Amino acid sequence: MMRSHYCGQVTEALTGQTVQVCGWVQRRRDHGGVIFIDLRDREGLLQIVFDPDNAETFAAAERLRSEYVVQITGLVRARPEGTVNANLPTGRIEVLGRSVEVLNKSETPPFQLDDDSVGEETRLKYRYIDLRRPLMQKNLRLRHDVIRRIRNKMDELGFIDVETPILTRATPEGARDYLVPSRTHEGKFFALPQSPQLFKQLLMMGGLDRYYQIARCFRDEDLRADRQPEFTQLDVETSFLSMEEIMALIETMFVDLFQAVMNVDLVGPGGKLPHLSYADAMGRFGSDKPDLRNPLELVEIKDIVASESFKVFAGPANDPKSRVVVMRVPGGAKISRSQIDEYTKMVAQFGAKGLAWIKVNEIAKGKEGLQSPVVNHLSEAALSAIIARTGATDGDLLFFGADKYKTVCDAMGALRIKVGLDHGFTNTKAWAALWVIDWPMFDEDEGRWVALHHPFTAPKVFDVADIEANPGTVLSQGYDLVLNGVEVGGGSVRIHRADVQSAVFRLLGISDEEAREKFGFLLDSLKFGAPPHGGIALGLDRLVMLMTGAQSIREVIAFPKTQTAHCPLTNAPGTVDAKQLRELSIRSTVSPAAAPRAVSVTEA
Ligand code: AMO
Ligand code: AMP
Repeated sequence: MMRSHYCGQVTEALTGQTVQVCGWVQRRRDHGGVIFIDLRDREGLLQIVFDPDNAETFAAAERLRSEYVVQITGLVRARPEGTVNANLPTGRIEVLGRSVEVLNKSETPPFQLDDDSVGEETRLKYRYIDLRRPLMQKNLRLRHDVIRRIRNKMDELGFIDVETPILTRATPEGARDYLVPSRTHEGKFFALPQSPQLFKQLLMMGGLDRYYQIARCFRDEDLRADRQPEFTQLDVETSFLSMEEIMALIETMFVDLFQAVMNVDLVGPGGKLPHLSYADAMGRFGSDKPDLRNPLELVEIKDIVASESFKVFAGPANDPKSRVVVMRVPGGAKISRSQIDEYTKMVAQFGAKGLAWIKVNEIAKGKEGLQSPVVNHLSEAALSAIIARTGATDGDLLFFGADKYKTVCDAMGALRIKVGLDHGFTNTKAWAALWVIDWPMFDEDEGRWVALHHPFTAPKVFDVADIEANPGTVLSQGYDLVLNGVEVGGGSVRIHRADVQSAVFRLLGISDEEAREKFGFLLDSLKFGAPPHGGIALGLDRLVMLMTGAQSIREVIAFPKTQTAHCPLTNAPGTVDAKQLRELSIRSTVSPAAAPRAVSVTEA
């Protein structure tokens, strides 16, 4: 045995005993003829003391440097009065070192573990050092706890873990595919799965009834703090359950997970997560993933301003594809002009042409009591109707958004989040989860219909004629799970009828030939006894990110990629030799002499 205890487990109870510990030298301090070593392993830090009485060991301790890997034997004793460190579990004791063996030396590390200013590129290049930091260890262990709890619960709920292929065909989730050339089928490619979507549906055709998998997914898309090119889903599919039953089942697992891992009650006694329609989410919060920890809301005032002479408001108020909203900020009259200017710049990034505002100083004084660049453009009647509808009182601030529906949602939704955080409206210590339901099946994008979820999502009513006649208004049986303003999961009841699936493909501009070529196997499977089925996928990285309070999912993934989808540690993606390419019948169009180019992507 190399060790008798982990460093972090040596506590008062072992006083008077000899222990043997292994780990990394966090720091060496020489103090008036005595040497202190902070020894670190995954369980914590332990103080080791060497005194000069034992000359040989003392000399060995003098040679220790940061990140040396050592084995130390010594006697556990109480720390002298006044040197106790109450912040450490091992802070009441120390180990009097009797022997030190250097198991491996370390060059001077590229950064100190307690230095928080190290750049991410460096941290990722030396990730094995970065992972020694207690915070990274804590994050990965929480991730482990989450996965273990999920597996236990899914097992208890009757789900079967099945693996699905990584080398497969394109699975449309809206991103670009990662392709793998085939050697044995010249000129052909596998695609890495964007999700196991089609396979999990086929497992339902296969009678598995309840499937889950901790599944790796691959998407070549612009990266952000909460997106990675490869990420992990808790992927789930069920048969013979209604949308409500599937949501309830997932909710059971989700609520249990937070209770068990975080000691957080997401619902209260006997409670359920709130359900919010997509229309209400966009309407009240300007977002399809509203952060309900923030009480600020958008209020529609189209009817109030439709006949005003102020074109900025009246124009959108009379356009069915636009909206005019107010967001009341209680006590916001204190907000400075320069901060309002900053907010105006921020909404401009979302396409807003301006940010009208009214400081409600003293309602009793009528227009006189309102301070604003727009009050003179608005009638007394409109102003008092706006004040009545928003419930504004003296000292409040009203922000206005008037534009195309999407522009207002994007701009005012972002403003709501920013003001909520800047002025303490958002309770960042709380947890707010909800379901967003009643999604439209399709969205219009440059004259084409696109699926809001994916093309396999079922409509509320299985009626081909209705879908074809009203693509813009049919609702789907899709649902998203949102936590603190982050989309942590999305799923739906699926189309299990071939005629409906074909109609949806046609609406999405996928011809019958193309549908056959790409999804023929799915269409076939629908003909041979496909049960009604549906499921969901939760983004595990995002979930663990929220649980740890990390700012990016890279903090909860052991070996993540950078913003340009690059791994600084292994230097992947890398070049391959000409022979390998020839075997794959591939010729590169990049000249070997050309300067390396990485497509730049921006962090949201
Ligand atoms: P969807 O595409 O919504 O649905 O993905 C499900 C969840 O996965 C997470 N996620 C990501 N996490 C990190 N990096 C990414 N690039 C990334 N993309 C998505 C999100 C998201 O909510 N097959 C369907 C699920 C279904 O219908 O059952 C699917 O993949 O948290
Ligand atoms: P203007 O008449 O363009 O000077 O605008 C008067 C006020 O309305 C200014 O405070 C602008 O910031 C604001 N404003 C202009 N366009 C919009 C808009 N689309 N939505 C909200 N406020 C706007």
